Amino acid sequence: MEGRKLRIAPSVLSADFSDMKGQLELINRAKADWVHLDVMDGSFVPEITFGAKFIRDIRECSSLFFDTHLMVNHPETFIEQFALAGSDCITFHIEAAVHAHRVVQQIKGFGKQAGISLVPSTPVEALFPLLGSVDLVLVMTVNPGYGGQELIPFCLEKVASLAAERKRRGLNFSIVVDGGVNRSTARAVREAGTDILVFGSAFFGAEDPVAEAGILRSIAEGMR
Ligand code: DX5
Ligand code: ZN
Repeated sequence: MEGRKLRIAPSVLSADFSDMKGQLELINRAKADWVHLDVMDGSFVPEITFGAKFIRDIRECSSLFFDTHLMVNHPETFIEQFALAGSDCITFHIEAAVHAHRVVQQIKGFGKQAGISLVPSTPVEALFPLLGSVDLVLVMTVNPGYGGQELIPFCLEKVASLAAERKRRGLNFSIVVDGGVNRSTARAVREAGTDILVFGSAFFGAEDPVAEAGILRSIAEGMR
Protein backbone atom coordinates (compact mmCIF):
# COMPACT_ATOMS: atom_id res chain seq x y z
CA MET A 1 0.00 0.00 0.00
CA GLU A 2 3.09 2.18 0.18
CA GLY A 3 1.67 3.96 3.22
CA ARG A 4 -1.24 5.46 1.32
CA LYS A 5 -4.07 6.59 3.53
CA LEU A 6 -7.37 4.74 3.18
CA ARG A 7 -10.30 6.92 2.18
CA ILE A 8 -13.99 6.08 2.02
CA ALA A 9 -16.60 7.36 -0.40
CA PRO A 10 -20.28 6.51 0.17
CA SER A 11 -22.22 6.33 -3.09
CA VAL A 12 -25.49 8.25 -3.09
CA LEU A 13 -26.92 5.77 -5.61
CA SER A 14 -28.42 3.88 -2.67
CA ALA A 15 -29.47 7.03 -0.79
CA ASP A 16 -33.03 8.27 -0.26
CA PHE A 17 -33.32 10.95 -2.96
CA SER A 18 -36.32 12.50 -1.20
CA ASP A 19 -34.01 13.66 1.61
CA MET A 20 -30.62 14.44 0.11
CA LYS A 21 -29.80 17.01 2.76
CA GLY A 22 -30.26 14.39 5.47
CA GLN A 23 -28.33 11.77 3.51
CA LEU A 24 -25.36 14.10 2.98
CA GLU A 25 -25.42 14.92 6.65
CA LEU A 26 -25.17 11.18 7.34
CA ILE A 27 -22.14 10.94 5.04
CA ASN A 28 -20.60 13.85 6.90
CA ARG A 29 -21.23 12.34 10.32
CA ALA A 30 -19.72 9.07 9.09
CA LYS A 31 -16.46 10.98 8.62
CA ALA A 32 -16.37 9.96 4.99
CA ASP A 33 -13.72 11.54 2.81
CA TRP A 34 -15.59 11.76 -0.48
CA VAL A 35 -19.15 11.68 -1.82
CA HIS A 36 -19.47 9.36 -4.84
CA LEU A 37 -22.04 10.49 -7.41
CA ASP A 38 -23.17 7.94 -10.00
CA VAL A 39 -24.44 9.51 -13.21
CA MET A 40 -26.19 7.00 -15.50
CA ASP A 41 -27.58 7.78 -18.94
CA GLY A 42 -29.81 4.80 -19.77
CA SER A 43 -27.51 4.00 -22.70
CA PHE A 44 -24.03 3.16 -21.46
CA VAL A 45 -25.85 1.45 -18.59
CA PRO A 46 -29.56 0.54 -18.44
CA GLU A 47 -30.57 2.90 -15.63
CA ILE A 48 -30.93 6.70 -15.55
CA THR A 49 -30.03 8.49 -12.34
CA PHE A 50 -29.47 12.25 -12.25
CA GLY A 51 -27.79 15.07 -14.10
CA ALA A 52 -25.70 18.16 -13.36
CA LYS A 53 -28.56 20.11 -11.78
CA PHE A 54 -28.90 17.53 -9.02
CA ILE A 55 -25.19 17.87 -8.24
CA ARG A 56 -25.36 21.67 -8.33
CA ASP A 57 -28.28 21.63 -5.88
CA ILE A 58 -26.72 19.23 -3.39
CA ARG A 59 -23.34 20.98 -3.65
CA GLU A 60 -24.75 23.52 -1.21
CA CYS A 61 -25.34 20.82 1.40
CA SER A 62 -21.82 19.40 1.63
CA SER A 63 -18.24 20.59 1.66
CA LEU A 64 -16.84 17.10 1.03
CA PHE A 65 -14.97 16.18 -2.13
CA PHE A 66 -17.47 15.38 -4.91
CA ASP A 67 -16.38 12.43 -7.01
CA THR A 68 -18.61 12.28 -10.10
CA HIS A 69 -18.66 8.89 -11.83
CA LEU A 70 -19.98 9.30 -15.36
CA MET A 71 -21.49 6.07 -16.68
CA VAL A 72 -22.51 7.75 -19.92
CA ASN A 73 -21.76 7.48 -23.61
CA HIS A 74 -20.01 10.47 -25.22
CA PRO A 75 -18.63 11.77 -21.90
CA GLU A 76 -16.91 14.64 -23.75
CA THR A 77 -20.28 16.31 -24.25
CA PHE A 78 -20.98 16.41 -20.50
CA ILE A 79 -17.69 17.47 -18.94
CA GLU A 80 -18.41 21.19 -18.85
CA GLN A 81 -21.77 20.90 -17.14
CA PHE A 82 -20.55 18.48 -14.49
CA ALA A 83 -17.46 20.60 -13.84
CA LEU A 84 -19.53 23.77 -13.45
CA ALA A 85 -22.00 21.93 -11.20
CA GLY A 86 -19.29 21.57 -8.56
CA SER A 87 -17.64 18.19 -9.09
CA ASP A 88 -14.12 18.01 -7.67
CA CYS A 89 -13.21 14.99 -9.74
CA ILE A 90 -14.83 13.69 -12.92
CA THR A 91 -14.35 10.02 -13.79
CA PHE A 92 -15.42 8.63 -17.16
CA HIS A 93 -15.25 5.20 -18.79
CA ILE A 94 -12.56 4.20 -21.26
CA GLU A 95 -15.20 2.08 -23.06
CA ALA A 96 -17.31 5.20 -23.71
CA ALA A 97 -14.59 7.48 -25.10
CA VAL A 98 -12.65 7.05 -28.33
CA HIS A 99 -10.37 9.99 -27.53
CA ALA A 100 -9.92 9.29 -23.85
CA HIS A 101 -6.73 11.31 -23.52
CA ARG A 102 -8.51 14.36 -24.90
CA VAL A 103 -11.33 13.92 -22.36
CA VAL A 104 -8.74 13.86 -19.56
CA GLN A 105 -7.31 17.14 -20.85
CA GLN A 106 -10.80 18.59 -21.08
CA ILE A 107 -11.51 17.76 -17.42
CA LYS A 108 -8.18 19.24 -16.33
CA GLY A 109 -8.94 22.35 -18.35
CA PHE A 110 -11.72 23.06 -15.88
CA GLY A 111 -9.27 22.72 -12.99
CA LYS A 112 -10.78 19.39 -11.88
CA GLN A 113 -9.19 16.08 -11.06
CA ALA A 114 -9.57 13.51 -13.83
CA GLY A 115 -10.42 9.86 -13.31
CA ILE A 116 -10.68 6.95 -15.73
CA SER A 117 -12.72 3.81 -15.13
CA LEU A 118 -13.11 0.39 -16.70
CA VAL A 119 -15.78 -2.30 -16.59
CA PRO A 120 -14.94 -5.87 -15.51
CA SER A 121 -14.49 -7.18 -19.07
CA THR A 122 -11.95 -4.51 -20.09
CA PRO A 123 -8.29 -5.50 -19.62
CA VAL A 124 -6.47 -3.16 -17.26
CA GLU A 125 -3.62 -2.69 -19.75
CA ALA A 126 -6.04 -0.59 -21.84
CA LEU A 127 -5.51 2.17 -19.28
CA PHE A 128 -1.72 2.02 -19.12
CA PRO A 129 -1.05 4.77 -21.70
CA LEU A 130 -3.20 7.15 -19.63
CA LEU A 131 -1.79 6.43 -16.18
CA GLY A 132 0.64 9.34 -16.31
CA SER A 133 -2.19 11.80 -17.03
CA VAL A 134 -4.96 10.86 -14.59
CA ASP A 135 -5.49 11.56 -10.89
CA LEU A 136 -7.37 8.37 -10.22
CA VAL A 137 -8.32 5.03 -11.69
CA LEU A 138 -11.70 3.65 -10.70
CA VAL A 139 -11.81 -0.12 -10.99
CA MET A 140 -15.38 -1.38 -11.39
CA THR A 141 -15.72 -4.62 -9.46
CA VAL A 142 -19.29 -5.18 -10.66
CA ASN A 143 -20.86 -4.57 -14.05
CA PRO A 144 -21.97 -0.96 -13.70
CA GLY A 145 -25.62 -0.01 -13.59
CA TYR A 146 -26.95 -1.08 -10.22
CA GLY A 147 -26.13 -0.99 -6.54
CA GLY A 148 -26.17 -4.08 -4.36
CA GLN A 149 -24.36 -6.52 -6.66
CA GLU A 150 -21.67 -8.99 -5.65
CA LEU A 151 -18.02 -8.14 -6.16
CA ILE A 152 -16.41 -10.05 -9.05
CA PRO A 153 -13.15 -11.38 -7.58
CA PHE A 154 -10.98 -11.33 -10.74
CA CYS A 155 -11.36 -7.54 -10.88
CA LEU A 156 -9.13 -7.24 -7.83
CA GLU A 157 -6.21 -8.55 -9.89
CA LYS A 158 -6.48 -5.29 -11.83
CA VAL A 159 -5.97 -3.33 -8.63
CA ALA A 160 -2.76 -5.23 -7.92
CA SER A 161 -1.55 -4.64 -11.51
CA LEU A 162 -2.27 -0.93 -11.24
CA ALA A 163 -0.47 -0.65 -7.92
CA ALA A 164 2.57 -2.46 -9.37
CA GLU A 165 2.58 -0.31 -12.51
CA ARG A 166 2.27 2.85 -10.43
CA LYS A 167 5.27 1.84 -8.40
CA ARG A 168 7.31 0.77 -11.42
CA ARG A 169 6.76 4.11 -13.17
CA GLY A 170 6.86 6.29 -10.06
CA LEU A 171 3.33 7.61 -10.66
CA ASN A 172 0.90 9.01 -8.16
CA PHE A 173 -2.70 8.28 -9.22
CA SER A 174 -5.15 6.93 -6.63
CA ILE A 175 -6.84 3.57 -7.02
CA VAL A 176 -10.59 3.47 -6.33
CA VAL A 177 -12.72 0.32 -6.11
CA ASP A 178 -16.43 0.57 -6.84
CA GLY A 179 -18.99 -2.23 -6.53
CA GLY A 180 -19.77 -4.89 -3.97
CA VAL A 181 -17.67 -3.42 -1.17
CA ASN A 182 -19.09 -4.61 2.15
CA ARG A 183 -18.04 -6.28 5.40
CA SER A 184 -17.08 -9.52 3.59
CA THR A 185 -14.97 -7.91 0.87
CA ALA A 186 -13.49 -4.70 2.34
CA ARG A 187 -10.32 -6.35 3.64
CA ALA A 188 -9.48 -8.07 0.35
CA VAL A 189 -10.19 -4.86 -1.56
CA ARG A 190 -7.80 -2.88 0.60
CA GLU A 191 -5.16 -5.63 0.58
CA ALA A 192 -5.18 -5.68 -3.22
CA GLY A 193 -3.88 -2.09 -3.09
CA THR A 194 -7.00 0.10 -3.10
CA ASP A 195 -6.74 3.66 -1.75
CA ILE A 196 -10.41 4.65 -1.88
CA LEU A 197 -13.37 2.38 -1.14
CA VAL A 198 -16.73 3.29 -2.66
CA PHE A 199 -19.77 1.68 -1.05
CA GLY A 200 -23.46 2.34 -1.62
CA SER A 201 -25.78 -0.39 -0.35
CA ALA A 202 -23.47 -1.45 2.49
CA PHE A 203 -23.68 2.11 3.86
CA PHE A 204 -27.21 3.29 3.13
CA GLY A 205 -28.68 -0.20 3.66
CA ALA A 206 -27.20 -0.45 7.15
CA GLU A 207 -29.33 0.09 10.22
CA ASP A 208 -26.78 2.62 11.45
CA PRO A 209 -24.82 3.94 8.45
CA VAL A 210 -22.53 6.11 10.58
CA ALA A 211 -21.44 3.11 12.65
CA GLU A 212 -21.22 0.96 9.53
CA ALA A 213 -18.72 3.31 7.90
CA GLY A 214 -16.45 2.93 10.93
CA ILE A 215 -16.84 -0.86 10.84
CA LEU A 216 -16.05 -1.03 7.11
CA ARG A 217 -13.04 1.21 7.59
CA SER A 218 -11.64 -0.90 10.40
CA ILE A 219 -12.27 -4.16 8.51
CA ALA A 220 -10.45 -2.71 5.50
CA GLU A 221 -7.55 -1.73 7.70
CA GLY A 222 -7.41 -5.19 9.28
CA MET A 223 -8.36 -3.88 12.70
CA ARG A 224 -11.31 -6.26 13.21
C1 DX5 B 1 -22.61 0.91 -9.79
C2 DX5 B 1 -22.10 2.21 -9.23
C3 DX5 B 1 -21.65 2.13 -7.83
C4 DX5 B 1 -22.71 1.68 -6.87
C5 DX5 B 1 -22.07 0.72 -5.93
O1 DX5 B 1 -22.73 0.96 -11.15
O2 DX5 B 1 -21.02 2.74 -9.99
O3 DX5 B 1 -21.05 3.32 -7.38
O4 DX5 B 1 -23.29 2.70 -6.10
O5 DX5 B 1 -23.04 0.14 -5.17
P1 DX5 B 1 -22.73 -1.00 -4.13
O6 DX5 B 1 -21.74 -0.48 -3.15
O7 DX5 B 1 -24.06 -1.29 -3.55
O8 DX5 B 1 -22.17 -2.17 -4.92
ZN1 ZN C 1 -19.85 4.46 -9.06
